[in-house]
Amino acid sequence: MLSLDSKINNKLSLRRAKDSFRSLVDYGSARIDFCSNDYLGFARNADLKRRIHERLEADIPPIGATGSRLISGNSHFCEALEAKIAEFHEAAAGLIFNSGYDANLGLLACLSDRNDTIIYDELAHASIRDGIRLSRSKAFSFRHNDLSDLEKKLQHAKEGARIIVVESIYSMDGDQAPLLEIHQIAEQYGAALIVDEAHATGVVGPQGKGLVVELGLTQKVFARIHTFGKALGCHGAIVLGNDNLRNYLINYARSFIYTTALPWDSLIAIDEAYQLLAHTQAQQQLVELQAHFKKVIPPAILANFIPAESPIKSLLIPGNQAAKKLAQSFAQQGIAIKAILAPTVPAGQERLRICLHSFNTLAEINTLAEILNQELC
Ligand SMILES: Cc1ncc(COP(=O)(O)O)c(C=O)c1O
Repeated sequence: MLSLDSKINNKLSLRRAKDSFRSLVDYGSARIDFCSNDYLGFARNADLKRRIHERLEADIPPIGATGSRLISGNSHFCEALEAKIAEFHEAAAGLIFNSGYDANLGLLACLSDRNDTIIYDELAHASIRDGIRLSRSKAFSFRHNDLSDLEKKLQHAKEGARIIVVESIYSMDGDQAPLLEIHQIAEQYGAALIVDEAHATGVVGPQGKGLVVELGLTQKVFARIHTFGKALGCHGAIVLGNDNLRNYLINYARSFIYTTALPWDSLIAIDEAYQLLAHTQAQQQLVELQAHFKKVIPPAILANFIPAESPIKSLLIPGNQAAKKLAQSFAQQGIAIKAILAPTVPAGQERLRICLHSFNTLAEINTLAEILNQELC
């Protein structure tokens, strides 16, 4: 019989053999950040940091939340914050979860059962897939952003409730869902539409309110997930919907019920980040940088990027080894860029995921273009 130690050793050896062994890297010393999801620079924003520290010093809160929201971890402050964030995103209600992962897991696991069908984009985030798996519902993926495949899959779902799950901006490809069309199909088939706005939060729509607000679909979408760990530079997430959905999640979402709530400093940081979001110029700077990026990357290299208007620019470099090697060349020059390897993405679609931020300079983007030119042309 194989011992557990041997079993995990074999699996790790397999990863090493496929060049897909994951290890932790500290990018803290990198000179240039083309890697983090801190699209608007909020995590490093000096004014934001100062305001958060001032509030924490003015009224020193407990360190931790001391319990789950249903025991001792709730507060008027947290509920008022949820209402404020929901209003900002033009939703009736919201419920904060400890992370985007927890939000998707809790929401998707509890909404449906064996009789229902969830249809999700094949590039949906792992947290969406894991939530679907826990729900025990029938589930089909549809080809990425492919409306006719979505319809085909909906036609398979003959009984029970139908749920469609998409992201507004896909985390690895950086492209946008054709949400208006997806909404029309959802209406036609009587399906509930859930939109994960993790990478659109702060970046897409007026004041970064998201794609659902931008397209005027707030009354049409069943639930939205906004995360605070990306453009907002904080941590946590909120599920937006109607009051009924909020009550349902408080009663049934296990990743909400059975965990200690976010600590006070996180809630204060989220509150301050939303206040900054309402008047920051960072989105405009990001748009200008994206235009510069398109201008300076050599056309032959630009052709290998996955077409996307978001700050996530994915350059396809097939093969784990090749993608890793190119990321290492950047690292040697103090530039943090993450190679995304199989099995995180399908084999053959390994890539460098280059994230642009409002704080990147034109000179940094020029340097990026020069290195790509040297390495690839
Ligand atoms: C689309 C999407 N949803 C959810 C999450 C999870 O969010 P969090 O990092 O807050 O757990 C991520 C994180 O990468 C994501 O890309």
